[in-house]
Amino acid sequence: MKKKFLIRSFGCQMNKLDTNLVVNSFIQSGFELTDQPAATDIVLINTCSVRRHAEERVLSLLGHLKHIKKTQPGIIVAVFGCMAQRLKEDLLSHEAVNIVCGPLQIPELVNLVNNDIPKQVAISDNIRHKPLLQDSERLDAFECAYDTAEDNLPAQAYVRVMRGCDNFCSYCVVPYVRGPEASRPPEKIIAQIKKLADAGIKQVTLLGQTVNSYCYNGSSFADLLYEVSKINGIEWIKFVTCYPRNFDEKIFKAMVDLPKICRYLHIPAQSGSDKILKAMNRGYTSAQYLEIIDKAREIVPDIAIAGDFIVGFSGETDEDFRKTVELVEKAQYKNCFIFKYSPRPGTRADDKLADDVPMEVKKQRNIELLAVQEKISAELNKSFIGKTVKVLVEGMSKKGHLDGATEKEYPQLIGRTAGDYIVVFDGPANLAGQFVDINITRASSLTLFGQTN
Ligand code: 5AD
Ligand code: SF4
Repeated sequence: MKKKFLIRSFGCQMNKLDTNLVVNSFIQSGFELTDQPAATDIVLINTCSVRRHAEERVLSLLGHLKHIKKTQPGIIVAVFGCMAQRLKEDLLSHEAVNIVCGPLQIPELVNLVNNDIPKQVAISDNIRHKPLLQDSERLDAFECAYDTAEDNLPAQAYVRVMRGCDNFCSYCVVPYVRGPEASRPPEKIIAQIKKLADAGIKQVTLLGQTVNSYCYNGSSFADLLYEVSKINGIEWIKFVTCYPRNFDEKIFKAMVDLPKICRYLHIPAQSGSDKILKAMNRGYTSAQYLEIIDKAREIVPDIAIAGDFIVGFSGETDEDFRKTVELVEKAQYKNCFIFKYSPRPGTRADDKLADDVPMEVKKQRNIELLAVQEKISAELNKSFIGKTVKVLVEGMSKKGHLDGATEKEYPQLIGRTAGDYIVVFDGPANLAGQFVDINITRASSLTLFGQTN
């Protein structure tokens, strides 16, 4: 009988992609995916370290597994990803944990599980050393081995274009757990996307911590966009995340030239205060940030822009926060992700700066900034009413898309536009993975509602 494995995944799109790769490698090695904790032989946990809360969720899951292991001692628990790399052997001493595996070692995970040794660790000793050539090649081979992911949205796939990060924003753990920035060879990326297209993928999302700094032997991210655009079968190309420094305008030009490139930009600002941006080591001022998004709108007038902000960073005064509110008002984002600052051990901010904004103030600022953005999103979304938008259908909508006007629940289909707007509408389940035109009839701050025409 096939051994069963269960997988839990925390964190960003990069982690979702790693999870997909791991799921596929286990299935190819003869394991069977399950979502039943009572029936599983193996529990795999892909972890995130970006905020403390993400790690706490993993620790509470491990606490739970410790109890389960009392009655099912044979279960193998493997913790992999960023938190595994950050905590190393410390995590291995947890009673529930059998295997600790860093993000750069995921190709080995299936072998570690097959080894059947009670405690094993596979991590990079000094992750800031440039990964060896054979490491990159091994990761690339792992990346390319799977045509399409088991648990992905229909007709969509993530494709990594680069690994790691060299920016060292003072609050961020990523450079310490994902290692140095390395762009993947364009020919490998193209070959991989061609395979995905042959397998029925219509939308690819190119992933990297700072995709706009992609560079491989002189070939830039804009060059890559032109190449990916030539691939038959791929209809939409999205990419995340961009860094608001040294922005190559050719990327905006590509959006205008190439109909497949979605006119959507996720470009985190993190703060509107120059003092805070400096303390964060972001390397730009709020004016420079605004220049980039003004340029984007000048070249691509209908571009949808999303941002990230951290509130309550070390030293953030009310005045600094006002500047963040002002930036959000000026930027007119489609939506924003807002986070309360969470000091991460080992980062420069945690070493050198006090976490001096009280939690209550962080919460208050979070609520206030969300409210500012909600108003902007609601206005922008309203402007879609009466228009027709093209969406790629993801599947059935989870319950809870409450339409404020009627309080009626719409457990229908959900899809996204090229600009990444979420659209909920009536329709048959077999539309999943298809492009459809939707007439927008209502809008809330988070969602557009409509009907097929
Ligand atoms: N605390 C809070 N938010 C953080 N982010 C990254 N590090 C931290 C931290 N230590 C946020 C940033 C980033 C997003 C992925 O997570 O806004 O863009
Ligand atoms: Fe972290 Fe900054 Fe790199 Fe983004 S660019 S992953 S915030 S260090």
